[in-house]
Amino acid sequence: MDPNLLKKEFPLEDGLIYLNHAAVAPWPARTRDAVRQFAEENSRIGAQHYQRWLQKEQALRAQIQRLLNAPSSDDIALLKNTSEALSVVAAGLDWQAGDNVVISAEEFPSNRIPWQSLARRGVELREVNIRVEAPEQALRDHCDDRTRLLSVSSVQYGSGIRLDLEALGPFCRRNNILFCIDAIQSLGAITMDVQALQADFVMADAHKWLLGPEGIALFYSTPAARERLQLYQYGWHMVENIDFNSRDWQVARAARRFECGSPNMLGIHAFSASLSLLEEIGYRQIEHKVLRNSAYLIDKLEQIDTVQILTPKVAQRHAGIINFTVAAKDMLQLQNNLLNNKVICVYRGGGLRFSPHFYITDKLLDKAVDILRRLSL
Ligand SMILES: Cc1ncc(COP(=O)(O)O)c(C=O)c1O
Repeated sequence: MDPNLLKKEFPLEDGLIYLNHAAVAPWPARTRDAVRQFAEENSRIGAQHYQRWLQKEQALRAQIQRLLNAPSSDDIALLKNTSEALSVVAAGLDWQAGDNVVISAEEFPSNRIPWQSLARRGVELREVNIRVEAPEQALRDHCDDRTRLLSVSSVQYGSGIRLDLEALGPFCRRNNILFCIDAIQSLGAITMDVQALQADFVMADAHKWLLGPEGIALFYSTPAARERLQLYQYGWHMVENIDFNSRDWQVARAARRFECGSPNMLGIHAFSASLSLLEEIGYRQIEHKVLRNSAYLIDKLEQIDTVQILTPKVAQRHAGIINFTVAAKDMLQLQNNLLNNKVICVYRGGGLRFSPHFYITDKLLDKAVDILRRLSL
């Protein structure tokens, strides 16, 4: 990786050690510049070049298509956030009383509350303990002939457990179960191929490992799966032929059907800039470095006697999140002390969560662990 490019793109304040990409990531310099330019343009000439903005929107859909290896950019909708995309699925399916949904027992509320909300329609939610030797088997074992959908995070926000999605997708397809992936904790860190996974729905907001802004999210659906979702938001933008002079309309075939009105053009410009950096560096190379950083961090943390690592240590079972506790320490207090020492991290899922992205150097990781060691005495 070109150190000059990384230095230019991540001009983080001196002394700051940013280990919180699983929460909200810093923007690359080019994303900042894209937002600045867009603001400048808006204040100078308004939407005079709206056609160019529309091209940027198309470019972003193509970038996301490549990110996911989706068959078509028509399979990508741009929504507000992960929760909205999950809600589109939960509210849209034709549930029957007695149906069930299977999730893991440690999902972020975005991937639990939409399914819990279906209780009033008689839908059972099955939350599966995945802190077992074979979590995918546990998830499969909880499915039966009334399971309509399996929805999991690719990587758990707290523990950092990474699931083997290939052990779930084909199983779901064989059993006529929809397969839904909250990919916010893996996209931008770990590569994903939605076709190989046989995923029906994939969603992720931009603001974590994808290094984009909050408030814009990708939502992938297969044509067959989106046909099964009843729509509940309508407007000018979700029709097949956008024509303000016609009163006839049909729902768009493309995933644009989930976007009822004007797009988030500011978010689109920013998100596209962030993805252009990730593409330039290469998703495989990023994955390699994220996993290498995690392995390095695990190794360093293990050298502190009082540290207990909660995240599974084998490379296939984690991505960029490393969660740990320190014996006889109040974790919240320790988090605050780390923050006061400019180690940006968070107390989540019963431990301290470090989530360094690919551009964080060994030197910074060493420094963070040194500070932790000192604060843990
Ligand atoms: C697994 C997971 N899903 C979803 C979210 C956030 O969802 P949203 O994009 O709706 O804010 C988070 C944020 O921490 C998360 O960790």
